[in-house]
Amino acid sequence: MNQREFHKKVGISWVAAVLFFTCSPTQAAEPVAPVSVLIVYHSASGNTEKMAQAVAEGAKAISGTKVVLKRVGEVAADDLVSSDAVIVGSPVYFGNMSGEVKTFFDNWNLKFRLSQERRMANKVGGAFATGASISSGKEVTVLTIIGAMLVNQMIIVSGGGGFSASATTGPTSPGIDEKEMAEAQDLGKRVAEIAAAIKRGSSK
Ligand SMILES: Cc1cc2nc3c(=O)[nH]c(=O)nc-3n(C[C@H](O)[C@H](O)[C@H](O)COP(=O)(O)O)c2cc1C
Repeated sequence: MNQREFHKKVGISWVAAVLFFTCSPTQAAEPVAPVSVLIVYHSASGNTEKMAQAVAEGAKAISGTKVVLKRVGEVAADDLVSSDAVIVGSPVYFGNMSGEVKTFFDNWNLKFRLSQERRMANKVGGAFATGASISSGKEVTVLTIIGAMLVNQMIIVSGGGGFSASATTGPTSPGIDEKEMAEAQDLGKRVAEIAAAIKRGSSK
């Protein structure tokens, strides 16, 4: 073998070694960080709580999702900051979200200082509502929750029905029926899916 052939062979071996070590299938896969979905609700008589549980079931159905379910008064700043997505549910009180849910949002500014520092920006947001009447404020309630999220630069995701998930709970349709439960599950599932796509990137 002359010197030129020798150098050529050494060069080929070197390239092969580099390719082997960089493309080896034995390389450890990157650990996948869980997507954290916080579900927050106010409920005086249990309807919105039942919807919240169904939203949680839907989110849990997406593998790699960590779900935290809390009442509005139990939420600390860290619950919000550490979440990738926040889904908020309210009963309709006089055509709007309840005072407890409004106070929860006001505290993003007054108590937690999240708004001033844009700490909620680019997190995924979703909303759901329950109301006694077919048409007496569920859509307004969902829209005002979404409005508070938009002001905080969140990315809104709907699910379930046209204006996201909701349930009618008054005398003509008491409690939460199967269709309303399925809508709530769909909302949780969609929010978890979109939050995962934003956090980890998507090939879709
Ligand atoms: C103070 C108050 C105001 C309400 N106002 C409305 C209303 O404007 N429209 C409506 O559809 N239901 C209204 N409701 C009924 C509740 O929204 C409904 O019963 C809801 O499902 C209660 O949710 P919860 O069981 O989670 O507390 C009102 C209830 C209360 C206590």
